Amino acid sequence: MPEQYEIVRKRALTPDITSISVYAPLIARKARAGQFIILRAGHDGERIPLTVSSTQGDLVTVVFQKVGDSTMTLDEIPEGGCLTDFVGPLGLPTPVDGVKRAAVVGGGLGCAIALPVAKALHDAGAQVDLIGGFRTKDIVILEEDMARACDNLYICTDDGSYGYSGFTTGKLEELLRSGEKYDRVYAIGPLVMMKFVCRLTKGYDIPTIVSMNPIMIDGTGMCGCCRVTVDGQVKFACVDGPDFDGHKIDFDETIARAATYKEFEQRRRENHKCRLEGMNNG
Ligand SMILES: Cc1cc2nc3c(=O)[nH]c(=O)nc-3n(C[C@H](O)[C@H](O)[C@H](O)COP(=O)(O)OP(=O)(O)OC[C@H]3O[C@@H](n4cnc5c(N)ncnc54)[C@H](O)[C@@H]3O)c2cc1C
Ligand code: FES
Repeated sequence: MPEQYEIVRKRALTPDITSISVYAPLIARKARAGQFIILRAGHDGERIPLTVSSTQGDLVTVVFQKVGDSTMTLDEIPEGGCLTDFVGPLGLPTPVDGVKRAAVVGGGLGCAIALPVAKALHDAGAQVDLIGGFRTKDIVILEEDMARACDNLYICTDDGSYGYSGFTTGKLEELLRSGEKYDRVYAIGPLVMMKFVCRLTKGYDIPTIVSMNPIMIDGTGMCGCCRVTVDGQVKFACVDGPDFDGHKIDFDETIARAATYKEFEQRRRENHKCRLEGMNNG
């Protein structure tokens, strides 16, 4: 039997994106679409929130992008290695009940998070259009899994190298203009993408759920670090979300807050690369 929090399966989806399946039977049994875990890769490690992409038996799969020091350290743990902590499921599940026709829009890595939402809607009997956007063909991930989780999959690439040529918002607008009627739209991905999906759906008066991923520390509503403004009120994404009514989110404030630690994160990323290069040299 695997050890607690052992990485039982590890797969590189692209050079920057990794999928790990972790032995965590209790979380695997409870987790619902839209919920997340917080893990640590080492006793001195930062707490890393990652959304549950899927569960199978005793395994919880998360998909992460190597964007900085902690996710690069996480990626250094080999298959068979163990995580220090793996806590969850945290946050509220994505609401899917009562939806008959939905569009789920994922941007880049957000497709790994859009996947369980599309699957939950589909399993609940909804007809689902899944729109997945990527910069270019080489970094398209989880295409087969997404195709299985929906009725119609539309892959978009910014550079037109695969599928629809243009942004996810362009494809969504095309579908809406052609007369598609959605009860609800779900948008998961970069803040700017979610902001523009919401701007579009507001014009069509379609309720829209977005998944907010501000910086989190404790993940239990104690530190206040993950606050977002929703309809003029302060909410904590870790316990009140991460999903919110996208038409009520103050995106500009969230985008500005997300940039707070940019310089510090850049330095840590560069130091991490230097440490790795040092090891490789000798
Ligand atoms: C609820 C939630 C779910 C998430 N799900 C996923 C997922 O499924 N896959 C994935 O790749 N990423 C996910 N993220 C983002 C992921 O947690 C960060 O990319 C990661 O913590 C970056 O750490 P780092 O040290 O490698 O990068 P850093 O260099 O420290 O930061 C890079 C960027 O990551 C973000 N970030 C940094 N620390 C945190 C933190 N403690 N909490 C949230 N964001 C942070 C910041 O926006 C920052 O600009 C999620 C975040 C939240 C809040
Ligand atoms: S992460 Fe601390 S309150 Fe949400």
